[in-house]
Amino acid sequence: SVEDEAVDKNIFKECSNIAFYRRQKQWLSKKSPYRASLDSVTTGKDSTSFQIIDEATKIPLLAEVYGLEGNIFRLKINEESPLKPRYEVPSVLTSKPSFVRLISCSGDKGSLVLADGKGDLKFHVTADPFRVDLVSEEDIVMSINSLGQLYFEHLQIPPKQRATKENEDSASVDTSQQENQDDMGLWEEKFGNFIDIKANGPASIGLDFSLHGFEHLYGIPQHAESHQLKNTGDGDAYRLYNLDVYGYKIHDKMGIYGSVPYLLAHKLGRTVGIFWLNASETLVEVNTEPRVEYTLTQMGSVAAKQKVRSRTDVHWMSESGIIDVFLLMGPTPFDVFKQYSHLTGTQAMPPLFSLGYHQCRWNYEDEQDVKAVDAGFDEHDIPYDVMWLDIEHTDGKRYFTWDKKRFPNPKRMQELLRSKKRKLVVISDPHIKVDPDYSVYAKAKEQGFFVKDHEGGDFEGVCWPGLSSYLDFTNPKVREWYSGLFAFPVYQGSTDILFIWNDMNEPSVFRGPELTMQKNAIHHGNWEHRELHNIYGFYQQMATAEGLIQRSKGKERPFVLTRSFFAGSQKYDKGAVWTGDNKSDWSYLKISIPMLLTLSVTGISFCGADVGGFVGNPEAELLVRWYQAGAYQPFFRGHATMSTKRREPWLFGEEHTRLIREAIRERYALLPYWYSLVYRAHTTAEPIMRPLWVEFPNELETFGTEDEYMLGSALLVHPVTEPKVTVVDVFLPGSDEVWYDSKTFAHWEGARTVKIPVALDTVPVFQRGGSVVPVKATIGKSTGWMTESPYGLRVALSSKGSAVGELYLDDGHSFQYFHQNRYLHRRFSFCSGVLINSCADERGHYPSECVVEQILILGLRKQPSSVTTHSSDGKDQPVAFTYSAKTSSLSLEKLLLKVGADWEVHIR
Ligand code: NOJ
Repeated sequence: SVEDEAVDKNIFKECSNIAFYRRQKQWLSKKSPYRASLDSVTTGKDSTSFQIIDEATKIPLLAEVYGLEGNIFRLKINEESPLKPRYEVPSVLTSKPSFVRLISCSGDKGSLVLADGKGDLKFHVTADPFRVDLVSEEDIVMSINSLGQLYFEHLQIPPKQRATKENEDSASVDTSQQENQDDMGLWEEKFGNFIDIKANGPASIGLDFSLHGFEHLYGIPQHAESHQLKNTGDGDAYRLYNLDVYGYKIHDKMGIYGSVPYLLAHKLGRTVGIFWLNASETLVEVNTEPRVEYTLTQMGSVAAKQKVRSRTDVHWMSESGIIDVFLLMGPTPFDVFKQYSHLTGTQAMPPLFSLGYHQCRWNYEDEQDVKAVDAGFDEHDIPYDVMWLDIEHTDGKRYFTWDKKRFPNPKRMQELLRSKKRKLVVISDPHIKVDPDYSVYAKAKEQGFFVKDHEGGDFEGVCWPGLSSYLDFTNPKVREWYSGLFAFPVYQGSTDILFIWNDMNEPSVFRGPELTMQKNAIHHGNWEHRELHNIYGFYQQMATAEGLIQRSKGKERPFVLTRSFFAGSQKYDKGAVWTGDNKSDWSYLKISIPMLLTLSVTGISFCGADVGGFVGNPEAELLVRWYQAGAYQPFFRGHATMSTKRREPWLFGEEHTRLIREAIRERYALLPYWYSLVYRAHTTAEPIMRPLWVEFPNELETFGTEDEYMLGSALLVHPVTEPKVTVVDVFLPGSDEVWYDSKTFAHWEGARTVKIPVALDTVPVFQRGGSVVPVKATIGKSTGWMTESPYGLRVALSSKGSAVGELYLDDGHSFQYFHQNRYLHRRFSFCSGVLINSCADERGHYPSECVVEQILILGLRKQPSSVTTHSSDGKDQPVAFTYSAKTSSLSLEKLLLKVGADWEVHIR
């Protein structure tokens, strides 16, 4: 079975097995033949266009340059008159991006300079050879095609039909392609026993980008690699090709489940982004030339030295489609996040329960098992929100059905969970069992809703149910129909506490090439699978989320976990992404951090990794450490594969149960902070998990850090990811910062590495001076039990004795926050001994009876003589307090301050 296979390099391709890579590499050793024809410049309503001519063949490409609101340029390059249309990725861009008119400034004869007339940015085109420089204040930030790697394979008439045609029109054949060499894979490409027949022949594209002064790049998930992109070296590249890789190898650039063809580059003073909108197989080479000092000449005794800036070259290559690239010019990391969200949307606002803890395994056997596990959480006083059912819950892997023996009464089971204020998530994969008696299959078949094979029949491949066909989610009609399957009367046994998990949607095809679909399978619109492979899973999640919204008549937020994803998977009210089949090994715990940081900076904030590791049996220490780490990652789910031993949190002895309980309870305590962060991600595109460089962009030391990160701007988390450690080195950034240990309240000034002693119950988390973190003061069995529970505020003072923070709250499940402004957004600020709760957003209103019951102030150097509260109705009240001189902390308890009301606490 697939389950026992280690990652087999014979199953998956390396660069050398990829024909378009070989072709581009071979060809690029030659001189760049491209010249922009700047006499042909035309200025349209939204864009400026000109031809780019291949000097060898004289066949023109058409380049279009757009200016987009907020420091973004878009460059599109396509064939001017392709034999047939080339694929342009739909559904990803929001309708929002608005154009800025580019004005052509004086350029000399061989160049064209475009500017948006507002900022200082210029798009400078040089004609011969074709090159673009993006210039800001006379400084070249980025160059395009300065290495001459522009590559464009024009669509051609197939050789068989050509013999006759060629005589008529010889110009339509690109003679630079050496199609006699069969290893170039022009019309046919072999890999193992698979042959990919290419009806359209070679159609690949490529382009290089040089980032001047940049040595730090991030992004292009998904790889089990470090956060900072590495140099790719010879024969190597980051591969973006969605694949099902069981127990994927770490520190590897092979493609796994999802792809976001977008990277960020950062240097002191500027962050930029490059978004390569292409859904076909893509390879990215990265090469950094570090800063060097050359000794130029030896004149007498004086050696003249010249400093050469560092530079990183990025080379994108895709199998097909067009060049459609967005250049996000920052200048700050948060500007780039905003710019990317203008293009692809922000993180959807998830329901509150989905930020709680999720309990999954392949499989919870039956209703009895579900009941017992659910009860186990209560017995052991461990909060959790969601029970998960994997593929075995179905009748023979027919999704939308139930195994009648194991789950005879799914509604009863859901009523039990509902009574505990908990939810159920069940799996629904894109493959549909070939079985005429299975109504989903029969109806899809009848309506022609499956992906087709190249001969026009329904594509059939093997997956969990055996022979299966695959729904063509790229077809809007299929999506609409599929969404309808989630309607309560249609999905028998479903209730409104049931949510969905989309798995195997790369798509996974067990006996297919690289365990996926043949590239010549045919989708809606007659597009080959190769054109859109990487966006297939995106569309399934989109249709599922839409279905969940519709079943509630547009009222309730959906939750859909997906394994495969693409740029923009964060939007459309979809849900979360997880990192697939990791292993129960310390190295996988460790790499979960950079993997999630990478997803986070590319727009996918709601992400997580299987807690405990999917494959294998974690020892108790690893499991505890994984819970402690997972509690500080956005999507928090324990999961395990079939053959593993049971590992519910209470199966490892009392002490380990206690530690896991503590980790999960701390997650629940912090939920108000999490929810406020999610709201930020949703409204202003700020990632939830942030690499240190994002919060400290002027500190070089942070640029490569990936063993710790910021949760929002207030908490620094340094999970323990190694066995038997007694000390961890924690880097506390920022020379003006103060950091407080969130448990001991010890504090340090920033810009130093401190040695933190750790026991198994230590989770190194530090609160940044100057922040207020809202928490829940009491924990319930699930988020549903905590709606009314009181809040606490953890105030950590900056070196100047001040702090700010915020709290967002709403009903946690509906769209009323959006349609009716039913929310509260409060701001807490502390300055000169006064803590103020004020309104952060006057539009919002939500009747909350909740009170702030506890306030903890860290970094208060003197014992106060009095503490009084002032409410807006003018009533002043003295408050009892406890001050600890040892930890400089002040604690106020048993307060009754309404969370939604204006009030002040005066400390004198
Ligand atoms: C593969 C998924 O990655 C895993 O989480 C799941 O348990 C199995 N498929 C079975 O559905």
